[in-house]
Amino acid sequence: MVRKKKQVFDEGYLKALNSKNIEWIDIGVKGLIDFIPGLPKGDAILVRGEPGTGKTILALQFMYTGIKNGETVVYITTEETPETIIRTGAELWSDFPQMLQDKKFVIVNLSINASYASEFSLINKGEVMAIVLKVLDATPDVSRIVIDSLSALERRLVDPSEFREVFMKLLLETKKRGATTILTAEGIPKRPDIPEYLVDHLIYLDYQKHDVIWTRVFVLRKSRSVPLQPRILKLNIETQGLWVEEIPISLKPVWFASKL
Ligand SMILES: Nc1ncnc2c1ncn2[C@@H]1O[C@H](COP(=O)(O)OP(=O)(O)OP(=O)(O)O)[C@@H](O)[C@H]1O
Ligand SMILES: [Mg+2]
Repeated sequence: MVRKKKQVFDEGYLKALNSKNIEWIDIGVKGLIDFIPGLPKGDAILVRGEPGTGKTILALQFMYTGIKNGETVVYITTEETPETIIRTGAELWSDFPQMLQDKKFVIVNLSINASYASEFSLINKGEVMAIVLKVLDATPDVSRIVIDSLSALERRLVDPSEFREVFMKLLLETKKRGATTILTAEGIPKRPDIPEYLVDHLIYLDYQKHDVIWTRVFVLRKSRSVPLQPRILKLNIETQGLWVEEIPISLKPVWFASKL
């Protein structure tokens, strides 16, 4: 007797596995489309890198692309004040101030200059979630969320051991809403931890030194459902924002590769 193979997944799940059903979105990094079809809508993307590597600009460009697309964006800033975020956006794109005036995005201020119960600008997990959920609940059509940065958020907590719970809850709330989310964090860890494993995509931004030239590099380190080998791309930050390209042969990444 030939036994019928047990069906492990239901039809719906198998259908969802078909990449044709993925809604690819443009995260705003120009040139990335030459390497991948986009990133799946509703996923969580962690962007990690040393200071000045372009995390905030990438997050802003993700927001700007969403607004241009008619989407609703919530930008949670825990490090920079809303004023500097707006200043950078206005420096990059001339139509950014108009977007602000037209209330095309909401900035949630969890930076040092926000008003907190503690006079030392520290906050507990309940306060973080109350502030964030108030805005998210008032923005039901949100489709892009930025949290810049997780590291500063961890520092702002009265009890840093609460960070894991805050991170889990934030991720859960963004997923529940189906919003594509960019989270940033400082540095490239020697040993990846919970955030690196829990997110759907992991991007590293770094510098590569070549004689006296410092080159910015962009690595899509992990990307669930995206057909891509991890690879190093050259990252350029210019007056209109950031873009990536194939790394020139002359800048073959030697020391950077050893970090991966
Ligand atoms: N208009 C511009 N043209 C060219 N380069 C720029 C422009 N604006 C900013 N930069 C460069 O981009 C770099 C990256 O800035 P960004 O604020 O995104 O870094 P970051 O990774 O968020 O740093 P941090 O960890 O300190 O928050 C800046 O240090 C600056 O050198
Ligand atoms: Mg930053």
